[in-house]
Amino acid sequence: MNHFDFVVLGSGVAGLSLSLKLAAHGSVAIVTKRRPADSNTAWAQGGVACVTSAEDSFDLHISDTLVAGAGLCDQAAVRTIVTEGPTAVRELMRIGVHFDERVLAGGQRELDLGKEGGHSKRRVLHYHDTTGLEIEQRLLDAVVKEQNIQILDNHMAVDLITTGKLGYTTEDRVIGVYVLNEAIGTVETIRSDRVIIATGGCGKVYLYTTNPDIATGDGVAMAWRAGAAVANMEFIQFHPTCLFHPEKKSFLISEAVRGEGGKLVDASGREFMSKFHKLAALAPRDIVARAIDAEMKRTGAKCMYIDITHKPAAFLKDRFPNIYETCASLGIDMTRQPIPIVPAAHYQCGGVRTDLEGATTLRGLFAIGEVACTGLHGANRLASNSLLEALVMAARCSQALLKPKYAKYLQAFELPEWRPGHAQDVDEVVVIYHNWDEIRRLMWDYVGIVRTSKRLLRASTRLRNLQREIQEFYWDFKLTTDLLELRNLCTVASLIVDSALARSESRGLHFTLDYAESDDLRFLKDTVLRRY
Ligand code: SIN
Repeated sequence: MNHFDFVVLGSGVAGLSLSLKLAAHGSVAIVTKRRPADSNTAWAQGGVACVTSAEDSFDLHISDTLVAGAGLCDQAAVRTIVTEGPTAVRELMRIGVHFDERVLAGGQRELDLGKEGGHSKRRVLHYHDTTGLEIEQRLLDAVVKEQNIQILDNHMAVDLITTGKLGYTTEDRVIGVYVLNEAIGTVETIRSDRVIIATGGCGKVYLYTTNPDIATGDGVAMAWRAGAAVANMEFIQFHPTCLFHPEKKSFLISEAVRGEGGKLVDASGREFMSKFHKLAALAPRDIVARAIDAEMKRTGAKCMYIDITHKPAAFLKDRFPNIYETCASLGIDMTRQPIPIVPAAHYQCGGVRTDLEGATTLRGLFAIGEVACTGLHGANRLASNSLLEALVMAARCSQALLKPKYAKYLQAFELPEWRPGHAQDVDEVVVIYHNWDEIRRLMWDYVGIVRTSKRLLRASTRLRNLQREIQEFYWDFKLTTDLLELRNLCTVASLIVDSALARSESRGLHFTLDYAESDDLRFLKDTVLRRY
């Protein structure tokens, strides 16, 4: 049995930057289910929203975040994360992360700040259109040099081990985690009294998503099963502009393209966003995604388009090299023709409820990054606030984890090894893939951008049946990553549906035709769910 002072689940910006800070204080295991760089972070294009220019201010960034959040942001969380952002970003630059700069008339250089929907100022630090990849790589370069950090790649957390589950009558707390070693197919027991979930979001719960395959909601599902509170899961952000192409699913066309003047047009080239909002293509994401959805439904079109052909080709190739190359490889020249786009699931605004130190409601368990719900995003996340949140919360959580109240409870508890029982190899892998597809399609059709109570109830019934079936697989079959991901997807899908059913109003990213208005009297509050 392995023992680490800290176990970090996930290897995106949140998990890696936290691990770097913890390495000076004890042994750290980073558990990551595929290769270390396979994370949502590596796919992030836009950048880090942060106040760095003299024309900007904390108050403006705070106010933009609150407006996007549609009344549900936690004001203290917003102020803390926005004001601590510059320090966290400087730290990242110290590690070696590059952000684009521009040269001023006198030859001095300054950060080249991008603009995205909902921001009243240019404030997005970026590295061309591959900001996340730059951050991920530099953090990984630093992590592999640390003696105290062990990366367990191709290892997937199965479940948290809690004193409650083991039958102890003391206060319930996390004391370890069972982890599947995919290469040899065995489940290992890791002891730790400080487990930090940084597993990212759950985009794969939907048929169409901008997220990589790893985004299966593992952290939320695991924390939920262990009894931690989960909040605001109905608020799933759909990014308005995912590339529409049969050969390239899940490829994002960054909001920065609209920030640089890209217009949303239909197949005949007619701009349509200005009839929906005064900020047109730069309106908050929920509004843009719903407008595109409405135009597609109204005209029967399979997609809409983003047109930035008015900008010089040299500018587009330098600012958006990844988007330019990817589109070009599919025969789309973005310098001369509009890019076909559709909305797709992008970001989970709710998650495991935490305080501003990353502590969940379950002792010994912490959560940071997209998996967590700190209150920053409310009912709709402001673009590029997520990398910022991950960095600030990693710094705050690293300090909290050293507090005596969180450490050294382990000696008193016996941890049993995992017992595989009589589990067999999965006889027909097709049952797993069938259920995967079914969940993703039903979530897209019934729990998408525009919802109704009838569709939500239909989804709920179907998910309950799937849940039972998947639970049987879980007991009968030897564990694989696919099976564990399926189990987590189903749990997270059910949490999204239950949360959506509990909110009989429309607010931010949750829009239902049955209650098209917001109802502040009854629903100006978070949706908090607990298993027990
Ligand atoms: C984008 O580049 O459009 C994504 C930025 C974000 O979701 O924060």
